[in-house]
Amino acid sequence: MEHTLNKRIVLGITGGIAAYKAAELARLLVKQGITVQVVMTEAATHFITPATMQALTGNPVLIDQWQDDKGMAHIHSSRIAETIVIAPATADFISKLAHGLADDLLSTLCLARDCPLLVAPAMNKQMWANVATQRNMQRLLADGVTLLGPASGLQACGEKGMGRMLEAEELAQAIVATFGTKELAGRKILITAGPTYEAIDAVRGITNRSSGKMGYAIAQAATEMGAEVTLVSGPTSLTKPNGTQRIDVTSAAEMFDAVKQHVDSADIFIAVAAVADYRVAQPSEQKIKKSDAALTLELTPNPDILAYVANLPKPPFCVGFAAESEKLRELATEKRKKKNIPLLAANLAQNAIGSDENEIVLFDDDGEHVLPRADKLTLARALMRHATSLYLKGNAK
Ligand code: C5P
Repeated sequence: MEHTLNKRIVLGITGGIAAYKAAELARLLVKQGITVQVVMTEAATHFITPATMQALTGNPVLIDQWQDDKGMAHIHSSRIAETIVIAPATADFISKLAHGLADDLLSTLCLARDCPLLVAPAMNKQMWANVATQRNMQRLLADGVTLLGPASGLQACGEKGMGRMLEAEELAQAIVATFGTKELAGRKILITAGPTYEAIDAVRGITNRSSGKMGYAIAQAATEMGAEVTLVSGPTSLTKPNGTQRIDVTSAAEMFDAVKQHVDSADIFIAVAAVADYRVAQPSEQKIKKSDAALTLELTPNPDILAYVANLPKPPFCVGFAAESEKLRELATEKRKKKNIPLLAANLAQNAIGSDENEIVLFDDDGEHVLPRADKLTLARALMRHATSLYLKGNAK
């Protein structure tokens, strides 16, 4: 890591056992030339001492909103910060943020800020899974707060599950990444998302349970990184991510046409859509009447959009998805080769389709990289970071 970053952050520490990791986080940030102002809640001081944090950052720690002689510590500190990071963020503090409460220095500072807020949750798996916490997290994401983690793993309480704070090194990297220039500025990204719908007759059709959430999350993550995103979307009930161009399609054939129209200018193509493998050879224009006789539909294969793009003379950097119901590694490795793509994101269909969370394994020339279970936006950001670094390295096949 470099020692050159001339940035100022407020590191907010709230009262959870993961507070001990904040010491290492502060050390890593300071090492990179970042000025770190620590603000602790009273509860946090029961887990780690202000003296430790002061020694590591070289700055007095702020705790009490009344300790500053002008009584304006919250305004002052939030004005000088370029980013506020809450690590660890307890369920209680997340709840406060979601509701805009301001009953101590740290929460007041968050409310008074005009800079990005990054939150690294840390809590017992049951508290994380609780509907109230999940509702609060949705609120924070909708408010533009950046979520860092949590990860899954062994917890201080001895249980295993989701809610563990990311390690200091991972947090430091994610924080520094938010300072960077937008890595995909000026790049065009074409994404397919959602299911396709293949008509049988005027009212019936063949489709699948894809919700489009993963593709939309990737569109959002790519936009955050500065890319110009075109999202070719099958029928979904999702709202268009801000800043993207969405092209609505219904069938695989329409999706293929839209991709062909936009692929020439794309730098990266990400095929997330669950394209129907077959369509009805001769859909009926009228509703097919019910009868007692068996009905046979002739299905004809749809074009493989991803394979078409990957085999263009000058293909964009292609990322594919594989949803398998078994033998994930084996089938994903095979699929990456067969489709001739540099990066493939694989998941178990039964975990992923329609769900808000997922667990992904990335396959590339270097092997496999596990993205642990998280909400789809967190995964999308991690996937985009990985894809971008491969793309920028010119690692495309
Ligand atoms: O072969 P399979 O359908 O499992 O491959 C999945 C990947 O290929 C996904 O990235 C999907 O978006 C893409 N695909 C496609 N066109 C198809 C079928 C799949 O682009 N007709």
